[in-house]
Amino acid sequence: MTNGGPTIERTATERAASLQPEGITASGLGLRYGDRPVIEDVDLSLLPGTVTAVVGANGSGKSTLLKGLARLLVPARGAVYLDGKAIDRQPTREVARRLAFLPQRADAPEGLTVRELVALGRFPHRGWTERLGAGDRDVVEQALRTVSVAHLGDAPVEQLSGGERQRAWIAMALAQETRYLLLDEPTTFLDLRHQIEILDVVERLHRDEGKTVVMVLHDLNLAARYAGRIIALREGRIVASGTPDEVITPARLREVFRIEARVLRDPKRGTPLCVVVGTAD
Ligand SMILES: Nc1ncnc2c1ncn2[C@@H]1O[C@H](COP(=O)(O)OP(=O)(O)O)[C@@H](O)[C@H]1O
Ligand SMILES: [Mg+2]
Repeated sequence: MTNGGPTIERTATERAASLQPEGITASGLGLRYGDRPVIEDVDLSLLPGTVTAVVGANGSGKSTLLKGLARLLVPARGAVYLDGKAIDRQPTREVARRLAFLPQRADAPEGLTVRELVALGRFPHRGWTERLGAGDRDVVEQALRTVSVAHLGDAPVEQLSGGERQRAWIAMALAQETRYLLLDEPTTFLDLRHQIEILDVVERLHRDEGKTVVMVLHDLNLAARYAGRIIALREGRIVASGTPDEVITPARLREVFRIEARVLRDPKRGTPLCVVVGTAD
């Protein structure tokens, strides 16, 4: 720097962080359980205001990737950046104000009511011990209404049906009032109508509130319909990433899922629609 004065060395991580755009970015990300690598060398960039679906076979690392992006796993290699700053250098509460994560299997403590569950979403804004203020209570009620569970506010979470429970958890994530929503299989175990209902809520949040959404979906046709971008994982690596039209092709489906499929058009939205005709082994 200057005439023999102390030089401030920036670490590689700091240098990389200074180049990161807004959004969630992973750079050379490796995640492992113990010494078992699960995610390897993943680079991705999720821009604000986008909806991304993560797809891939069982065990391909989708949940692990989301946990890494949500800072629940410490990278074995590389780093994750949230709005330009290394996520593991940001205080938990700071991260929780910007990013809500709904895990694949979420269990509520026994006896907790839906309203109490949703109120937990307010903790990054007020701390565990402080009482809810009027503003917090408004946010909770609004979140209950957004996913149509206001009438279930006093019901214990464990008594809800699968679809209602999933909506209650999404309401909790909404009460967190974050810019980013990471949802791991928000539609699994739901019947078709409830799947569409959940995805319509996600679409509305994106359109009306500008939320940035990353969700793991199993149904490729729903992924193509609701996400602007699809990321396909195979054995812990990204093997395809792009618009639904770029990713939902017979060749990609063979590579990612080892299936033979025809690709048609969704009659309503024009998005690709795949019909599986067999396995590709
Ligand atoms: N907590 C864990 N400890 C050890 N291995 C795990 C753990 N969670 C997942 N795995 C392994 O990591 C791999 C990827 O799992 P996961 O990310 O859950 O895949 P997906 O969500 O795509 O089905 C699997 O082989 C799984 O067995
Ligand atoms: Mg999973």
